[in-house]
Amino acid sequence: MFSLWLTCCLPLGTLLLAFWRSAAGNQLSPEQSFIWGPGLRADVVLPARYFYIQAVDTEGKRFTVSPGENAFQVKITAPEEQFTRVGVQILDRKDGSFIVRYRMYASYKSLKIEVQTKDRHVAKSPYILKGPVYHENCDCPQEDGNAWLEEMSCPQAILQIQRDLVHFSTVDPDKIAKEIPQRFGQRQSLCHYTIKDNKVYIKTHGEHVGFRIFMDAILLSLTRKVKMPDVEFFVNLGDWPLEKKKSSQDIHPIFSWCGSNDSKDIVMPTYDLTDSVLETMGRVSLDMMSVQANTGPPWEEKNSTAIWRGRDSRKERLELVKMSRKYPEIIDAAFTNFFFFKHDESLYGPIVKHISFFDFFKYKYQINIDGTVAAYRLPYLLAGNSIVLKQDSIYYEHFYNELQPWKHYIPFKNDLSDLLEKLQWAKDHDEEAKNIAKAGQEFARNNLMGDHIFCYYFKLFQEYSKLQVSDPKVRDGMEKVEQPDDDLFPCSCHRKKVKEEL
Ligand SMILES: *[C@@H]1O[C@H](CO)[C@@H](O)[C@H](O)[C@H]1NC(C)=O
Ligand SMILES: *[C@@H]1O[C@H](CO)[C@@H](O)[C@H](O)[C@H]1NC(C)=O
Repeated sequence: MFSLWLTCCLPLGTLLLAFWRSAAGNQLSPEQSFIWGPGLRADVVLPARYFYIQAVDTEGKRFTVSPGENAFQVKITAPEEQFTRVGVQILDRKDGSFIVRYRMYASYKSLKIEVQTKDRHVAKSPYILKGPVYHENCDCPQEDGNAWLEEMSCPQAILQIQRDLVHFSTVDPDKIAKEIPQRFGQRQSLCHYTIKDNKVYIKTHGEHVGFRIFMDAILLSLTRKVKMPDVEFFVNLGDWPLEKKKSSQDIHPIFSWCGSNDSKDIVMPTYDLTDSVLETMGRVSLDMMSVQANTGPPWEEKNSTAIWRGRDSRKERLELVKMSRKYPEIIDAAFTNFFFFKHDESLYGPIVKHISFFDFFKYKYQINIDGTVAAYRLPYLLAGNSIVLKQDSIYYEHFYNELQPWKHYIPFKNDLSDLLEKLQWAKDHDEEAKNIAKAGQEFARNNLMGDHIFCYYFKLFQEYSKLQVSDPKVRDGMEKVEQPDDDLFPCSCHRKKVKEEL
């Protein structure tokens, strides 16, 4: 269970003695500052809703540094209710903008969001969200998938989805239901899902199927929000992509968290990113919002030794640690865990203590190097304001193909042979490096937030479902995946009520 934070307990009336001033010395202007984002709209249901505040001064200039982390106060209430069960956090991005996020533990008829600075309303505050305003656990799907896509402001087309599905001119659920378990079911851990009438059914294959919880969770979350198309598909719970046939003949559609240049698996956002979206302000502390408020010192004050920590899951990681021991002023790389290779302290040094992810951003240069497959920390690294140096790799997550080398990150060779040279380039071109860091951060902010992840999943299943040439079926041995029923504050869904009355 997560704890409930009630708005009554947050320090809202913080007494402010200082005048917030912009870099130019001007005062923060409540009228000129602006507020925007999906969290101001009732129909965008997210586990943690969010919106942005940009501080602007009385001259109309945007703040580019923080006006102070307590510059704004936010109060969220349900006017009709005595208590509003909502947790609110204001995250200072230190660039003049803030993320306000809130997690609702109950649904409300309407919601009032007040944003103030020194007792004056900011921008168009108060914002009234005419409801119903549903919380994450409310089972109240929008019947019209395309209307939902519009409400969520999802992109028209997602290139990676098109790239992945181009290998499949049609999908025959009857055929894959038989053939995929025969081909992979013995040695691999797979989940066979059918979504029918917006209910989720599953049959697992293989021994290690614990990771199904992430897939179950996102599918249930989606079906609470939107009516999913009837669809039947297989999810690979293992690390490595599976469909390695060279020709496109007789290949099978397999959904995986990681894609590779030498396979034809259909990629989805990783379980790690998915889980962090679902559990934002809940079980997880590292997510795409929290990371934005913890990006360490400003660029100029960051330590210019490159940093890396991780486990020994790939031999290039051993190489990197060896390099670090040879050039400790240039690279600080060390293992926090030994598991895959023989632990040789004389070569790879002692195991070091874990450092908090946010502490990575004390360093200017972040090295991203594959683990077993792609290193799933890349979304968070990009969201910081350090520059990412990324190893060339056959492995990719759902968004890598949209990233551009030299624009969003600095590439280095798979065998690390040019890593020192690339680090030197970054040091010699500090201004350019800073801009690449900024572009990478911008990419993460605009493409990897919770709403983008929901869009990706829905679009993917929608596009895939159109390829089906027979009806998805609830197969023998499938069990229904039930919605969680431990919700403290059940909602009443207006869409369901209308139906019952008819
Ligand atoms: C920068 O980091 C390195 C490696 O972690 C450390 O040895 C060095 O003292 C740090 N430099 C400064 C100026 O703090
Ligand atoms: C994998 O494919 C991408 C995109 O085509 C390419 O840029 C990259 O160099 C390839 N990596 C390897 C190691 O083959």
